[in-house]
Amino acid sequence: MVKIAVFASGQGSNFQALADAAAAGRLGGASVELLVCDKPEAPVIKRAEAAGIDTFVFRPKEYASREAYEAEIAAELEKRGIELIALAGYMRLITSVLVKPYEGRMLNIHPSLLPAFPGKDAIGQALDYGVKCTGITVHLVDGGMDTGAVVAQLPIAIEAEDTRESLEARIHAAETKLYPEVVAVFAEKRVSVEGRKVSIAGR
Ligand code: GRF
Repeated sequence: MVKIAVFASGQGSNFQALADAAAAGRLGGASVELLVCDKPEAPVIKRAEAAGIDTFVFRPKEYASREAYEAEIAAELEKRGIELIALAGYMRLITSVLVKPYEGRMLNIHPSLLPAFPGKDAIGQALDYGVKCTGITVHLVDGGMDTGAVVAQLPIAIEAEDTRESLEARIHAAETKLYPEVVAVFAEKRVSVEGRKVSIAGR
């Protein structure tokens, strides 16, 4: 069974979707073993506790560098035999300490059609720009800000009557459906990566 760690900093709707999919046997036979969280007060921690999933919670300010806390995370992941990482609203850049050992095995979900609107508040960026279509992207993590190879994308139309809340709700609904599907195909090892080209067998 493929063991997964989810990294999150906030509400955790994507964490919940992954945990639920694993519990229902819809995650390609993978299990969510660990939540890694950089915010001790984040609501996602309560979700992990309710689901009976272990947590590794840390305060970045207590470490000398990003590399220092990532080394601790890497040791924790190794100890638990984690094969795949799913970033789900983890609001920190990742260094080579984690990118290297998990190259091709670390995913992120981002609420825009990358390469449009990388970084923080992608939904607000799309609304401010006035685009008529935004969407969601699942991509591999390469150490840049939302720059890794694209694995899956879904477009979402922005309607004239949309508010931030209504658009965000549609984006979250799409994310919580797509992310478990993509993690499942990784867990089933149906993915091949050549440079920026990611292909999924049978999809
Ligand atoms: C999601 O929109 C995700 O795309 C982005 O951060 C948000 C996290 O939401 N990276 P949640 O914590 O999963 O509810």
